[in-house]
Amino acid sequence: MCGIVGYIGQKKACPILLEGLRRLEYRGYDSSGMAILDGQKMRTVKAVGKVCNLEEKIGDRDFAGTIGIAHTRWATHGKPSDKNSHPHADCSGDISLVHNGIIENYLELKKDLEKKGHKFTSETDSEVVAHQIEELNKKLGYEEAVFATLKMIRGTYGLAILNAQEPDKIIVARNGSPLVLGVGNGEYVIASDVSAIIRHTQQVVYLEDGEVAIIKADGYVVKTIQNKTKTKEVTQLDWSLEKAEKQGYAHFMLKEIFEQPAAIEDAIRGRLLPGEGLAKLGGLQGVVEKLRTIEKIIIVSCGTSYHAGLIGEYMLEEYAGIPVEVEYASEFRYRKPILNAKTAVIAISQSGETADTLAAIREAKHKGALTLGIVNTVGSTIARETDAGIYNHAGPEIGVASTKAFTSQLSILVLLTVMLGRQREMSLVTGQRIIKELKRIPKLIEKILAQDKEIKKMAKKYAKYTDFLYLGRKYNFPIACEGALKIKEISYVHAEGYATGEMKHGPIALIDENFPSLFVAPRDSVYEKTISGIQEIKARSGRVIAIATEGDTEIAKLVDDVIYIPKTLEMLTPLLAVVPLQLFAYYVGVSKGLDVDKPRNLAKSVTVE
Ligand code: AGP
Repeated sequence: MCGIVGYIGQKKACPILLEGLRRLEYRGYDSSGMAILDGQKMRTVKAVGKVCNLEEKIGDRDFAGTIGIAHTRWATHGKPSDKNSHPHADCSGDISLVHNGIIENYLELKKDLEKKGHKFTSETDSEVVAHQIEELNKKLGYEEAVFATLKMIRGTYGLAILNAQEPDKIIVARNGSPLVLGVGNGEYVIASDVSAIIRHTQQVVYLEDGEVAIIKADGYVVKTIQNKTKTKEVTQLDWSLEKAEKQGYAHFMLKEIFEQPAAIEDAIRGRLLPGEGLAKLGGLQGVVEKLRTIEKIIIVSCGTSYHAGLIGEYMLEEYAGIPVEVEYASEFRYRKPILNAKTAVIAISQSGETADTLAAIREAKHKGALTLGIVNTVGSTIARETDAGIYNHAGPEIGVASTKAFTSQLSILVLLTVMLGRQREMSLVTGQRIIKELKRIPKLIEKILAQDKEIKKMAKKYAKYTDFLYLGRKYNFPIACEGALKIKEISYVHAEGYATGEMKHGPIALIDENFPSLFVAPRDSVYEKTISGIQEIKARSGRVIAIATEGDTEIAKLVDDVIYIPKTLEMLTPLLAVVPLQLFAYYVGVSKGLDVDKPRNLAKSVTVE
């Protein structure tokens, strides 16, 4: 996700845009830039890295213009660089725009525009929009060209557009990426969220998908993409700035837990071929044939990403028939791993900078293995050093505890499983069934998030305990480990994640009425065994919380508390079962008054070994 700001009014735009970018920097900080219209003169400045680099580049230059747009980038297509920084312009330089979102059909649009003589300067999808408007402007005129271009785009956008030939207006459009219009006194501020607006005005208009606003210093009009005028309500805000950056959530971690449906939709967007039961992973195009010959996969990762790898092992072995080993990256390189050119070593990393994972990848490359990355941060070291990879598109994850990146990683692993499985024994029907169910997951997660209040209440009830045993089987054994990690790192409570079957080989000695257990117990192929485990704990006066499948009234009779998740394919249950555990850990931490976004002793990216 990126941050967009625009201003039109009587004041100099430059300082207002810079301040707005600083407010939105948490949305992305790979690069930033701005374009300001001073009469018909367009002045553009861009800088890689944080907004302070842009500020330095602008220095004390006095940009006179009172209309401008600006952008702070979270790279999705094209690594962080000056040329990939927004704003992007057309060939003439008259049309300049900033974009937040993913244009799925940008390659076909780009090819057509290049045939018509357009010259592109960046690797981004966003630049296509400026050239498409320029092309259509020749026969339709500017505003009509914008509407016609929006109808050609497939994907998501929040756009703010300037035209030096019509320097009295900003056109903004929203589809899938947020855009808010701040209504000031003879001035307007447009932004991705209210944190860049509220110091100018508390009067805002929330644009909805499919809406376009044409904004001038003396007024604005909102239209549908069909160019029909719409009346919009002006909302009176009463938010503090801090609350605004978290879009009303108390913490980034809670915001990111609630962003998971959108993050999964972004992870799979443009990558499904439901008709053929296939997954289309652009980042692996260069190694597709080599992947056909792979005889073993080793996944190297750390922490939450390691737990995602463990789930990937079950998926890939069951549905792609490929032997998989999952290794703590910090252990992998000091072992004598057996690998060769028929081995694919996959690094899973949200930050793409974890030193242990990077070192493991470098070791794998020395040994001649094919190296792949499942990475969230575009242009990060692991993304650059692996032979190929798949980006999560989950947007920046600010909370130290990884949540939306984790379910995004699982979604990517499902796509990889379908891709590799369909190269091997997986049937079209199985591929179709998995893809159809994966598309339902965001909605199913919404249903779990709706239980937020009940989970908060339960967390309060259990916050007094100092120890927990988290238990799960098969696909949900790693979820038990992830749930235990979450509550450990967020609320400093001791918790152990174990395979349920292992409980009787030692851990059950821990159980008494002061040592609660949390079972991940969906109605899956090992449900009966899980119920036996619950009964063994109950026989020793242990309290039990169960994560169970909706409608399972039997388990409710056995346990002390139950949180229900919707039914889905067994291989997809981890994407659902983890959500209550994330919320449980979050609310236990909050009930203890802890800083859940920045837990003690931890860092968001561990760049030391
Ligand atoms: C997860 O909540 C932790 N913050 C931590 O375990 C993290 O998953 C681990 O450090 C790996 O980070 P990466 O995904 O950026 O490589």
